[in-house]
Amino acid sequence: MAKIPPHIIDDIMQTARIEEVIGEFVNLKRAGSSLKGLSPFTDEKTPSFVVSPAKQIFKCFSSGKGGSVVTFLMEKEHFSYPEALRWLADKYGITIPEDRPATREELEAISERESLHIINEFARDHFVKNLQESDEGKKIGLSYFVERGFRPDIIEKFQLGYCLNVSDAFTSKAKEKGYKREYLEKVGLTKSKDDRYFDFFRGRVMFPIHSISGRVLGFGGRTLQSDKKIAKYFNSPESIIYNKSEILYGLYFAKSDIIKYDQCFLCEGYTDVISMYQSGIQNVVSSSGTALTKEQIRLVKRYTKNITILYDGDAAGIRASFRGIDLILEEGMNVKVVLFPEGEDPDSFAKKSSATELETYLLDHAQDFISFKTDILLKTDGEDPIKRASLIRDIVESVSLIPDPITRSVYMQTIAQRFDMNEQMVTRELARLRQDKQERDSRRAVRERPVEPIPDPSLPPPEVQEAASTGFRPKIDPSEIDLMQKLVQYGSLALVETFTNEKGEEETVENSVAEIICHELDVDELVFDNPVFSRMHALISNSLTENTLLKPSYFMRLEDQEIVCFVSDLEMSEKTLSKKWETKYNIFTNTEKDKLKEAVMGSVMNFKLSKIQKRILEIQEVLSEKRSEMKEEELMDLLSEHVALINVKKLIAEKLGRIVTG
Ligand code: CTP
Ligand code: MN
Repeated sequence: MAKIPPHIIDDIMQTARIEEVIGEFVNLKRAGSSLKGLSPFTDEKTPSFVVSPAKQIFKCFSSGKGGSVVTFLMEKEHFSYPEALRWLADKYGITIPEDRPATREELEAISERESLHIINEFARDHFVKNLQESDEGKKIGLSYFVERGFRPDIIEKFQLGYCLNVSDAFTSKAKEKGYKREYLEKVGLTKSKDDRYFDFFRGRVMFPIHSISGRVLGFGGRTLQSDKKIAKYFNSPESIIYNKSEILYGLYFAKSDIIKYDQCFLCEGYTDVISMYQSGIQNVVSSSGTALTKEQIRLVKRYTKNITILYDGDAAGIRASFRGIDLILEEGMNVKVVLFPEGEDPDSFAKKSSATELETYLLDHAQDFISFKTDILLKTDGEDPIKRASLIRDIVESVSLIPDPITRSVYMQTIAQRFDMNEQMVTRELARLRQDKQERDSRRAVRERPVEPIPDPSLPPPEVQEAASTGFRPKIDPSEIDLMQKLVQYGSLALVETFTNEKGEEETVENSVAEIICHELDVDELVFDNPVFSRMHALISNSLTENTLLKPSYFMRLEDQEIVCFVSDLEMSEKTLSKKWETKYNIFTNTEKDKLKEAVMGSVMNFKLSKIQKRILEIQEVLSEKRSEMKEEELMDLLSEHVALINVKKLIAEKLGRIVTG
């Protein structure tokens, strides 16, 4: 998709109201000029999550997260930057023009996609209405769900419905609405034979399948007949909006709890998800009839690294869980398994237990994959030494799929202990398997055209993720923070400097605070050590060469959320010298201008002092550790640098003293 043009980003940021957006996720109460609520990122009991409508920023004091409305959506919904902007544009009715005219095919694909979504959503509403209001729906569909123990609020939440057992009740309604027959057939709601249409799902209860953002992608329809010859479920066919292998049933409802508990339960069916959810385990999804795929696991990985598989204890369930384990390990995630008693699945078990019993069962029966596999295989194969060897090999094979070497070696220890074996032997087997795997992979790479690994667009690079997850915690040189604060908050203000020219006349020049600071750093070749500040410094220097001055609002719109977080923290803490400086320069009194200049120069000098101090310490360290190994000239260079630095330091300190007391 095309990039969003900057003026549209401005438009979106100006129109969006952070309090409205966050209000959809958090119950906010007024507290002075701000709004307060319970953090959606942690489990806190006392509200420390603050939204400022005036500044259009939020700060979560329990997780350290903070920033703009876009930051919030990226953190809460795990959207990428453009996804968050598009979500807002959609909410506030802002059209994003494409920067090149879309090709015919693209336009058609967009309008086809959109049409298919609209039809599915129309169908969902139609089926819900049938279930809740029509005689047949209530008598057959609703009573079925009620008999299964689904509560009314849950039936409503999951938008369960019913397709009447009338040949074309839905299709004719949809055609009345003007939906194209071609599209109705593409989403599989309508089938045609000769010249007659009929509803594909007639007489079935309907489970809509949602995208991560809640759009309806397709349906599962369960028959109410127990005739073994009739397929229990009909499912929507694959279409441009419905790709089975990339969808997890329930993820839309589960995602916030998956993040909250850093854990995802994975089961097999629609009803498993719904029953578990009803029993209070809401971080649950299902692969619904398809064998688990890599893409599905990657969907979960957006939210957590921990998956617990909940499958039936029958042979098919166990086989499926073995496959699942290997796929999950291969993605570098942690996997546990819970088996239910013979003949039970999560749905039936959840139904007959209380919420606490279910929770306790899950906790008590979650096995790590090694003991799970061991138990199962030992049970079937007993103590036969040959079988035992192949069991060990089987488990080592699973471990060999784990990408991280340290995790692998921890598991090797576990295996060696568990089977009372020499760890070296297990490790040798692992090495052999890894080598086999590498050879297989490289042969495959040769066979298939090499493809660049596609980075998950919704995730920032790892180092950013790490920093973002801890929030902006200044373990940074305070003089760097102080100077960056001046750059951001006053960078675009102008200061008048007076100097004497060659003819001895007084001359005045106007320079922006950003120009003055950047110039001071340039002449001494100084840089910010903190990587976030260093990126900001680069942006500011760049803007100067283009003769533009950056305001705080500019930083708040960047894709780089670490910058957004820093700037919004500044705004939150209101570290301003004087309120008036935030308004126009013109209305400053002379003393205020002088104060601003003093403050800016004070920060610059402090910054320099701190860098000099750092270098002095570095030199002293080298001198004390390596003096004896150093060549004569090296030593002399270092010593004279040391002396020079000490002098400069004295000079600056004096100057700083003047400025500060000034
Ligand atoms: N499934 C399917 N087609 C079938 C049978 C099953 O697509 N003929 C898929 C469905 O997504 C179903 C999942 O496989 O949810 C698990 O199957 P099963 O356990 O048989 O169904 P449940 O969802 O448990 O349904 P119920 O409890 O009503 O029997
Ligand atoms: Mn079932």
